[in-house]
Amino acid sequence: MQTRRQFLNDTSRLAAATGFISFPGALNARITKPSDTINIALIGCRGMGFGDLQNALKVPGIKCIGLCDIDRNVLAQRKNDVIKLQGSEPIVYSDFRKMLDNKDIDAVIIGTPDHWHCLPFIAACEAGKEIYVEKPLANSLAECELMMRSARRHKRIVQVGQQQRSGPHFINAVKFIQDGKIGQVRKVNVWGNFNYGIGQPVVPDSEVPAGVDYDMWLGPAPKRNFNKNRFHSNWRMFWDYGGGLLTDWGVHLLDVALWAMDVKTMPLSVTATGGNFAFADHAHETFDTMSVSYQLKDLVINWEHTAGIQTGPYNRSYGLAFVGNNGTLVIDRNGWELIPEVDEGKYKTPAVPKSGGSESHELHMRNFIESVREKRDPVCTIEMGRLVAMYAHFGNIALKTNSRLVFDEQAFNFGDNSAANALIAPAYRTPWVLPKI
Ligand SMILES: NC(=O)c1ccc[n+]([C@@H]2O[C@H](COP(=O)([O-])OP(=O)(O)OC[C@H]3O[C@@H](n4cnc5c(N)ncnc54)[C@H](O)[C@@H]3O)[C@@H](O)[C@H]2O)c1
Repeated sequence: MQTRRQFLNDTSRLAAATGFISFPGALNARITKPSDTINIALIGCRGMGFGDLQNALKVPGIKCIGLCDIDRNVLAQRKNDVIKLQGSEPIVYSDFRKMLDNKDIDAVIIGTPDHWHCLPFIAACEAGKEIYVEKPLANSLAECELMMRSARRHKRIVQVGQQQRSGPHFINAVKFIQDGKIGQVRKVNVWGNFNYGIGQPVVPDSEVPAGVDYDMWLGPAPKRNFNKNRFHSNWRMFWDYGGGLLTDWGVHLLDVALWAMDVKTMPLSVTATGGNFAFADHAHETFDTMSVSYQLKDLVINWEHTAGIQTGPYNRSYGLAFVGNNGTLVIDRNGWELIPEVDEGKYKTPAVPKSGGSESHELHMRNFIESVREKRDPVCTIEMGRLVAMYAHFGNIALKTNSRLVFDEQAFNFGDNSAANALIAPAYRTPWVLPKI
């Protein structure tokens, strides 16, 4: 059985054995006054990271001074985009370690694929930067833990990109539930059915595209030939880089369940069923079919996905249903509705009109910037990011090992379940190592 101390010692030993990657050292104790410009930089510029940067640049007093990517094509495009947006040129980098040496950078956005969140994040903590990191926090349980410890040790301000936490209709719905309006909630059903979860039609491996540093894209992940089905955007369906629909969408939606039900602890147990049953002509390793059940003290949270189809309960391809004794509240990014229980011809909940809703990326970024200015925790803390990412990984580990998981948070392991314990930390490819914290 691996104890918490062993887990810590193991990561240190790994670092010692393979040569510790030195990250920029001392904490940068920059004081950001409310009137100050915040200099921001982006690591991973293609997709969501750039969306986050665009939202940051809408806030007065924000300037982008750095862009980092391993794809020179993406970098050139995004440099032009930033010049158009703010009229001045950011410095471009191909290595995040070099970028983090720049003392003028106050905050970074991390928009790299999931396997590349942990190292830049910890390096940014050590360099004294504030951090907006995309979800899921990391691609493994161990990385989530290390990132939380690093952020708290270095007293960094961290927002995790679970933007529902800033969404007005999500906030209203959570208040409605927490005010007891649907009565006791014993079950939350959560689902996410998407076509993209089966990956792209299979194609053979090919040459690395010009301008791409593929070895740096792989980073700590195992060496593997290039295939566009595992590269930009499509990496989500391959275990070395992502965790499929459960970590991609599940993290957003399970986070709403944990938030509304005020869950701050590990589940008592986790079970999962499913597998890869369909679309063999599409490239994916992650499960296309999955049901996960999280047992809590007085609550069950269920996750469901069926990749390759886009219909779902309540005619919504994704969402949550909070099943209360007096009514069921159904919510997604477009709004929420109440389905009341009826007793002797009377509704057991107040009448509530169907609410609208919208994307909340912009508000979430604003909340981060305000938090940096006011030196406080944003709405989605590192602990919230860690907890829900771990819930998602539990589901995948339960199905991979075909076991009912019980996670011991103190020992940081699954007891004597050696198959599950083997999946707690990734084996980083030399010269990358899990930092010692
Ligand atoms: N909050 C949301 O709603 C939301 C939506 C989409 C994606 N995401 C998250 O955002 C992250 C990025 O997803 P995406 O869809 O934009 O992926 P993407 O593949 O489109 O973009 C990732 C970028 O990171 C770059 N990159 C890879 N390794 C790098 C490295 N070592 N240094 C610098 N750059 C590197 C890639 O070249 C690419 O430009 C993921 O964690 C994803 O889960 C969040």
